[in-house]
Amino acid sequence: MSENQDMFVPVLDEKELQEGSMKLVKIEGIPVLLVKVSGEIYAIDNRCPHMGCGFSGGSLDGNMIICPCHDWRFDLKTGEYEEDKDMKLVKYEWKIESGKILVKVDDEEW
Ligand code: FES
Repeated sequence: MSENQDMFVPVLDEKELQEGSMKLVKIEGIPVLLVKVSGEIYAIDNRCPHMGCGFSGGSLDGNMIICPCHDWRFDLKTGEYEEDKDMKLVKYEWKIESGKILVKVDDEEW
Protein backbone atom coordinates (compact mmCIF):
# COMPACT_ATOMS: atom_id res chain seq x y z
CA MET A 1 0.00 0.00 0.00
CA SER A 2 1.41 3.36 -0.95
CA GLU A 3 2.03 5.92 1.76
CA ASN A 4 0.06 8.55 -0.11
CA GLN A 5 -3.00 6.44 -0.68
CA ASP A 6 -5.27 8.38 1.64
CA MET A 7 -3.70 11.74 1.20
CA PHE A 8 -4.87 14.80 -0.63
CA VAL A 9 -2.23 16.03 -3.05
CA PRO A 10 -2.00 19.69 -4.13
CA VAL A 11 -2.26 19.84 -7.92
CA LEU A 12 -3.22 23.32 -9.07
CA ASP A 13 -3.93 26.88 -7.97
CA GLU A 14 -7.67 27.32 -7.75
CA LYS A 15 -7.52 30.44 -9.92
CA GLU A 16 -5.85 28.51 -12.74
CA LEU A 17 -9.04 26.50 -13.29
CA GLN A 18 -11.32 28.83 -15.20
CA GLU A 19 -15.06 28.35 -15.62
CA GLY A 20 -15.79 26.01 -18.54
CA SER A 21 -12.24 24.70 -18.71
CA MET A 22 -10.33 21.48 -18.05
CA LYS A 23 -6.82 20.90 -16.74
CA LEU A 24 -5.00 17.60 -16.91
CA VAL A 25 -2.68 16.70 -14.04
CA LYS A 26 -0.95 13.50 -12.90
CA ILE A 27 -1.03 12.10 -9.41
CA GLU A 28 1.13 9.06 -8.74
CA GLY A 29 0.98 8.24 -12.44
CA ILE A 30 -2.81 8.55 -12.62
CA PRO A 31 -4.11 11.08 -15.16
CA VAL A 32 -6.65 13.25 -13.38
CA LEU A 33 -8.76 15.80 -15.20
CA LEU A 34 -9.97 18.82 -13.28
CA VAL A 35 -13.07 20.43 -14.72
CA LYS A 36 -14.99 23.53 -13.71
CA VAL A 37 -18.56 24.02 -14.93
CA SER A 38 -21.37 26.10 -13.45
CA GLY A 39 -19.04 27.05 -10.61
CA GLU A 40 -18.58 23.40 -9.62
CA ILE A 41 -15.24 21.61 -9.66
CA TYR A 42 -14.92 17.95 -10.62
CA ALA A 43 -11.85 15.73 -10.45
CA ILE A 44 -12.21 12.68 -12.67
CA ASP A 45 -9.97 9.95 -14.04
CA ASN A 46 -9.02 11.16 -17.49
CA ARG A 47 -9.41 7.66 -18.95
CA CYS A 48 -12.82 7.00 -20.46
CA PRO A 49 -14.43 3.84 -19.02
CA HIS A 50 -15.31 2.73 -22.56
CA MET A 51 -11.89 2.22 -24.17
CA GLY A 52 -9.62 4.49 -22.20
CA CYS A 53 -9.45 7.56 -24.41
CA GLY A 54 -8.49 10.79 -22.67
CA PHE A 55 -11.41 13.03 -21.77
CA SER A 56 -8.99 15.97 -21.90
CA GLY A 57 -9.25 15.89 -25.71
CA GLY A 58 -13.03 15.97 -25.53
CA SER A 59 -15.51 18.73 -24.89
CA LEU A 60 -18.02 20.00 -22.36
CA ASP A 61 -21.74 20.56 -22.79
CA GLY A 62 -23.25 21.92 -19.60
CA ASN A 63 -22.62 19.27 -16.95
CA MET A 64 -21.80 16.66 -19.58
CA ILE A 65 -18.29 15.70 -20.66
CA ILE A 66 -18.02 14.17 -24.11
CA CYS A 67 -15.32 11.64 -24.92
CA PRO A 68 -13.38 12.54 -28.10
CA CYS A 69 -13.20 8.94 -29.36
CA HIS A 70 -16.80 7.77 -29.67
CA ASP A 71 -18.74 10.80 -28.36
CA TRP A 72 -20.05 9.05 -25.27
CA ARG A 73 -21.52 11.60 -22.90
CA PHE A 74 -21.03 11.36 -19.15
CA ASP A 75 -22.74 13.42 -16.48
CA LEU A 76 -20.06 15.03 -14.31
CA LYS A 77 -22.44 15.28 -11.34
CA THR A 78 -23.34 11.59 -11.18
CA GLY A 79 -20.50 10.15 -13.25
CA GLU A 80 -23.04 8.20 -15.32
CA TYR A 81 -22.86 7.46 -19.02
CA GLU A 82 -25.98 8.90 -20.62
CA GLU A 83 -27.08 5.62 -22.26
CA ASP A 84 -26.13 3.19 -19.50
CA LYS A 85 -26.29 4.49 -15.95
CA ASP A 86 -24.30 1.52 -14.67
CA MET A 87 -21.25 2.66 -16.60
CA LYS A 88 -19.57 5.45 -14.73
CA LEU A 89 -16.44 7.49 -14.98
CA VAL A 90 -14.23 7.55 -11.90
CA LYS A 91 -14.52 10.62 -9.70
CA TYR A 92 -12.03 11.61 -7.05
CA GLU A 93 -12.49 13.61 -3.89
CA TRP A 94 -11.03 17.07 -3.88
CA LYS A 95 -10.86 20.08 -1.61
CA ILE A 96 -9.46 23.57 -1.59
CA GLU A 97 -6.90 24.73 0.93
CA SER A 98 -5.02 28.02 0.86
CA GLY A 99 -6.09 28.68 -2.73
CA LYS A 100 -4.89 25.28 -3.96
CA ILE A 101 -6.93 22.39 -5.29
CA LEU A 102 -6.01 19.12 -3.61
CA VAL A 103 -7.11 15.74 -4.94
CA LYS A 104 -7.21 12.31 -3.35
CA VAL A 105 -6.72 9.51 -5.84
CA ASP A 106 -8.42 6.73 -3.98
CA ASP A 107 -11.02 5.15 -6.23
CA GLU A 108 -12.35 2.99 -3.41
CA GLU A 109 -14.35 6.04 -2.35
CA TRP A 110 -16.56 6.16 -5.41
S1 FES B 1 -13.29 5.55 -25.49
FE1 FES B 1 -14.62 7.05 -24.72
S2 FES B 1 -16.41 6.78 -25.84
FE2 FES B 1 -15.12 5.22 -26.55
